[in-house]
Amino acid sequence: MDQIVIRGGRPLSGEITASGAKNAALPVMASVLLGDGDYELSNIPRVVDIHTMAELLRRLGVGAQWADNRLILSVRGIERCEAAYELVKTMRASIMVLGPLVARWGQARVSLPGGCAIGARPVNLHLMGLRKMGAEITIAHGYIEAKASRLHGATIALDQPTVTGTENLMMAATLAQGTTVLDNAACEPEVVDLATFLNQRGARISGAGSRRITIEGVDRLSGGLHRYTIISDRIEAGTYLIAGAITRGRLAVRGCRPEQLEAVMGKLEAAGVVLRKEAGRVMVEGPPRPTAVDAATAPYPGFPTDMQAQFMALMAVAKGQSLISELVFEQRLTHVAELQRMGAQIQVQGVHAKVQGVEQLSGAPVMASDLRASAGLVLAGLVADGESRIQRVYHLDRGYERMVEKLQAVGAAIERVSGERARVGRQPEAGAGP
Ligand code: EPU
Repeated sequence: MDQIVIRGGRPLSGEITASGAKNAALPVMASVLLGDGDYELSNIPRVVDIHTMAELLRRLGVGAQWADNRLILSVRGIERCEAAYELVKTMRASIMVLGPLVARWGQARVSLPGGCAIGARPVNLHLMGLRKMGAEITIAHGYIEAKASRLHGATIALDQPTVTGTENLMMAATLAQGTTVLDNAACEPEVVDLATFLNQRGARISGAGSRRITIEGVDRLSGGLHRYTIISDRIEAGTYLIAGAITRGRLAVRGCRPEQLEAVMGKLEAAGVVLRKEAGRVMVEGPPRPTAVDAATAPYPGFPTDMQAQFMALMAVAKGQSLISELVFEQRLTHVAELQRMGAQIQVQGVHAKVQGVEQLSGAPVMASDLRASAGLVLAGLVADGESRIQRVYHLDRGYERMVEKLQAVGAAIERVSGERARVGRQPEAGAGP
């Protein structure tokens, strides 16, 4: 298995660009199941989760072709209504085909996603909402089976503002008879992006981006060719802001929309990081040493759980003590033990991590446990003394497009080594990076 090898201590400088947002692209891709047509989607990141969704769509009978970062999807009816365990177990976001399948094709059989590295992650709210819209849902042999002749509008109050749940129900409600109101809906920019795409196809959705979304069902969405460009990845952009800050570098992050990263940028500024907003990019300059700042994760517009591990890496080298609380997912602190292996002083109590900043982390072999945890370890590796080796990099491949190449281009001593070289622990060759 490949590893990422980093020699820490180099300030990053230059310009780095965030790719398209994985978590915006996934629901947009699932939504093509709502109607026949051709869809040319631009700014799609070529990461493993996107390839998994493309494969899932292909198995349902959708044509999918790549041209650089454009994905062309063609829907002319579908061949089956099933998302198999084999794919769903590798990517929970597969659940997002459930709403479109049952709304447009009257039935769906989708493997029930199990728990994952960051928590139990139930889908009860997705199912509750679909039931309220009239779907008949049973669970048998590990599969969700849903049927409906036509969904009807409903008022659905979500106990939690679930992101993919909001997206699933919004897609389903698009073709329901009558009006659906989603209360306590997720406000994430990815939800807004999906609503924009659906409205471009003739859906009637208002309020996306607020806690109440209203969807007036239509009989069908318009066919023909639809072109759409996905928003940039705010989490990737935020990760690179911290890369600039933690290495005491001077980095321009392109594809960074400050209004989508306010909570993160506010915390970085409080930690002494200098941020300058420019057209289409944000300049970041790291202080000699950041100051400790507390952070607690929350649904958008709060501090994103998807930035918690990266922020913890920064706090691990800050002056003073910070308290980082993970309030969205119950088990999303697995990176702590790995950061400790790099010399971080962190104590965990339940969902809270008390981080006592140290002056210097020390490079070590560490293991990635999920996508964002891996990003946190890369950031720690960029500032640690000596060499860090990050194992299980397939987590990173799920959501960061060409991260190693992008970081190399701004001066990081980072490279990916193949399983063979990783096993014998050879040093990278002279001139080949670290
Ligand atoms: N929840 C329920 N019942 C449900 C659905 C959610 O109790 O039916 C709970 C969850 O257990 C969690 C909270 O609600 O405690 C919020 O979870 P949410 O449903 O919003 O998460 P998600 O939709 O499964 C998306 C992203 C995640 C991101 C979270 C939170 C996609 C494909 N995934 O997941 O992204 O962490 O929202 O912002 O959009 C990642 O990219 O690394 C990632 C994990």
